Amino acid sequence: MENGGNRSRRSSASEKAKEIEAINGIVSGKNVLITGGAAGLGHAFLNHFLKHGANKITILDIDANAGKRVEINVEKSYGEKKVHFIHADVSCHEQMIEAFEEASKWMNDIDIVVNNAGILDERRWEKEIAVNIGGMVCTALLALKYLSRDQLGHGGTLVNVSQHIDIRNTAQLPVYTATKHAIIGLSQSLAESYQYEKVGVRVITLCPGLTETALTVDSPNKLLSRVMKADFVKNLDQLSIQTPYVVAQGLMSILKSGASGSIWVIENGRTPYEVYIPNPRTLRRTYKNNFILVEPKVTRGRPIREVCDNTRTGLMSCV
Ligand SMILES: NC(=O)c1ccc[n+]([C@@H]2O[C@H](COP(=O)([O-])OP(=O)(O)OC[C@H]3O[C@@H](n4cnc5c(N)ncnc54)[C@H](O)[C@@H]3O)[C@@H](O)[C@H]2O)c1
Repeated sequence: MENGGNRSRRSSASEKAKEIEAINGIVSGKNVLITGGAAGLGHAFLNHFLKHGANKITILDIDANAGKRVEINVEKSYGEKKVHFIHADVSCHEQMIEAFEEASKWMNDIDIVVNNAGILDERRWEKEIAVNIGGMVCTALLALKYLSRDQLGHGGTLVNVSQHIDIRNTAQLPVYTATKHAIIGLSQSLAESYQYEKVGVRVITLCPGLTETALTVDSPNKLLSRVMKADFVKNLDQLSIQTPYVVAQGLMSILKSGASGSIWVIENGRTPYEVYIPNPRTLRRTYKNNFILVEPKVTRGRPIREVCDNTRTGLMSCV
């Protein structure tokens, strides 16, 4: 008679096979563009897209040597014309316009964009903002242009890479954290304004926890001040670090089932889970000892139409 262990192993293997089949159904034959695809998480995403049968993949990166190396390695395993490397800096608008044009010509169409390139360097915080916010905004807007049905595309998915939403362990990374949180705002607003039903683009936010990449390994030497290093390293020591592989694997499952506007966390090498942005009223702090803030007398605002004065500025006109 078959024992329970064998039976559950068999059923979990068949669940896994079903999951892989479902992911293949979503990814297979698709054309993908990944920013920062030459290393770290971006490179792991590339490998998973290849594994699940993507048609063509463009990786865009500022590191020309790494990008070329990846292109050659993929050619060896998957043959020519599978991966194309474009050397570009996401924070340079002109380069990105050209890069998207080149990518869409090479692949014919773009179906999925992973907006991933980012840096951590608090000492060069202007650059950090330029890449992590400027570069991501630029990539997201171009992605929408090439994916949206009302523009150049036929629908698709945009994944914006943020970071773990728990800010309790980010005290020594104020600028980096600000940039990654900006991406949640960007992503949520785009998901709302470019409605999926109208333009056919799903906008998904991915929030990875601590992951073993060059960005993490170098981070203790990229802080605003040297005095922060001891606390930073102590904080890191308390966290467990996951591999890029599990994050990429998690992204494949998210692509299978994530709705537009959804936000996903992948931490500690576990299965992704979805989070939502709570209504601020439910987070309102209440005070002990009957301490109550005295609220000012509420005066109702004027109607927005009146303030914008339709007749003078036409601000509220939709035509
Ligand atoms: N590693 C983590 O723990 C972690 C956690 C949460 C979120 N993230 C985010 O994941 C993304 C990828 O990070 P990673 O850990 O793989 O880093 P990484 O440094 O290993 O890889 C980043 C890649 O982006 C490229 N890149 C950097 N600046 C660029 C630019 N201006 N233009 C084009 N390409 C550029 C790099 O050359 C590199 O190939 C980032 O947005 C990062 O903020 C990382």
